[in-house]
Amino acid sequence: MTYDELFGEAVKASENSYSKYSGFSVGAALLTLDGKLFTGCNIENSSYSLTNCAERTAVFKAVSEGYTEFSAIAVAGSATEDFSKPCYPCGACLQVLSEFCGDDFTVILSDGEHKLSDFLPMRFSEENIK
Ligand code: THU
Repeated sequence: MTYDELFGEAVKASENSYSKYSGFSVGAALLTLDGKLFTGCNIENSSYSLTNCAERTAVFKAVSEGYTEFSAIAVAGSATEDFSKPCYPCGACLQVLSEFCGDDFTVILSDGEHKLSDFLPMRFSEENIK
């Protein structure tokens, strides 16, 4: 799958966004090392802080099905139909991605290709708690 196609899957996943409070729809498309696709959307809650972001939905779906090795994620977010402005992953999602993905893990946004280390150059990991 090309990165453009992966971004298209993220836009498609945003169609299931449950975002009645913010009105901001987000979709994520996560590719496993062996080429399987897991998608996710943001799921909001009337108790706002319980909201789950699209990226974490996708990661948790994948891990719960036994997939823990990933090559790339695409993220698309918008309050309209226009997904041209990049939707940067939040800190919580970066930390969850960081549990499973290395510095070179690819993050595809509307503005192109990034690496996990671009967003999180220094990260808390299991090394810190040994
Ligand atoms: N959101 C995501 O789904 N992913 C992010 O990385 C940033 C924010 C969602 C959470 C909330 O439902 C909405 O965007 C507005 O913050």
